Amino acid sequence: MRLSQLAAAVACLSSSTVLAGFDQNRAGAVLKAPSNSSFVSVTGTFTVPSLTGSSLLSIWVAIGDTLSQDTVLKGGITYNQTLSSFVAWYPSATTDITKDVAVEAGDSITVTVSVPSVNGTSGTVILENTTQNKKSIQTIPVPSNVDSLSFLAADWFVQAYQLAGELVQVPEFGTLSFTNCSATLADGTTLGPEKAGIFEIQGTSGQIFSTTTTTASSISVQQQSVTNPFR
Ligand SMILES: *[C@@H]1O[C@H](CO)[C@@H](O)[C@H](O)[C@H]1NC(C)=O
Ligand SMILES: *[C@@H]1O[C@H](CO)[C@@H](O)[C@H](O)[C@H]1NC(C)=O
Ligand SMILES: *[C@@H]1O[C@H](CO)[C@@H](O)[C@H](O)[C@H]1NC(C)=O
Ligand SMILES: *[C@@H]1O[C@H](CO)[C@@H](O)[C@H](O)[C@H]1NC(C)=O
Repeated sequence: MRLSQLAAAVACLSSSTVLAGFDQNRAGAVLKAPSNSSFVSVTGTFTVPSLTGSSLLSIWVAIGDTLSQDTVLKGGITYNQTLSSFVAWYPSATTDITKDVAVEAGDSITVTVSVPSVNGTSGTVILENTTQNKKSIQTIPVPSNVDSLSFLAADWFVQAYQLAGELVQVPEFGTLSFTNCSATLADGTTLGPEKAGIFEIQGTSGQIFSTTTTTASSISVQQQSVTNPFR
């Protein structure tokens, strides 16, 4: 039962990948709001992995509008030779906030994303280095050209990247755990990620680069080594 629900959720999301700019290069969990409800905030904590090499990786927490994720309010970190922290309300541009919250391997980072109340004009992303008690509170305007917003998906993601459309490139991250994960509904109810849909990082030829599991309050993304038949 659970597996078929997950498969359905994944199939549903995959079918919208192209239109939504939602690629298959990410692992993690997407929790769908119960019918007649929507999310107001999502939070999660992770430890920045030690990353090397030229492959990119992002780790982020977000609220998406619907399961097609056309607009996504998010915050997290990116590794691109160096580590940086960012906030964004996709499809608007990403804002680098590394000057407010620098990132080093081993830091514990908590991201909390909150969306506006009805007809509000901005959302909030709080990115906090709980190791050092450094916190940045970013107010982000609703993207222009967005007619109406709904907040039906809570996301916790490890995102890899393709290189010029080639096979996905994944730096060694080992196992990335999101802890203290929760998503709060408009009526104040708090949900954990246990029943969220699972995503895995996939290569263009079907290789699976990760194994993701959830508990009542955490998400674990374990890297899988894959022998690439094209190299
Ligand atoms: C990674 O860094 C390079 C060099 O600074 C830059 O050109 C590129 O846009 C960056 N990629 C991403 C996804 O941020
Ligand atoms: C939000 O905007 C819609 C459309 O403009 C309007 O009908 C509705 O009354 C507004 N709701 C609130 C709570 O202001
Ligand atoms: C977080 O704290 C660590 C350890 O104190 C510090 O080295 C690092 O620069 C801080 N990073 C952030 C995210 O502010
Ligand atoms: C989880 O949240 C609780 C309560 O806010 C906090 O005391 C605890 O340190 C957090 N744990 C982690 C791993 O961040």
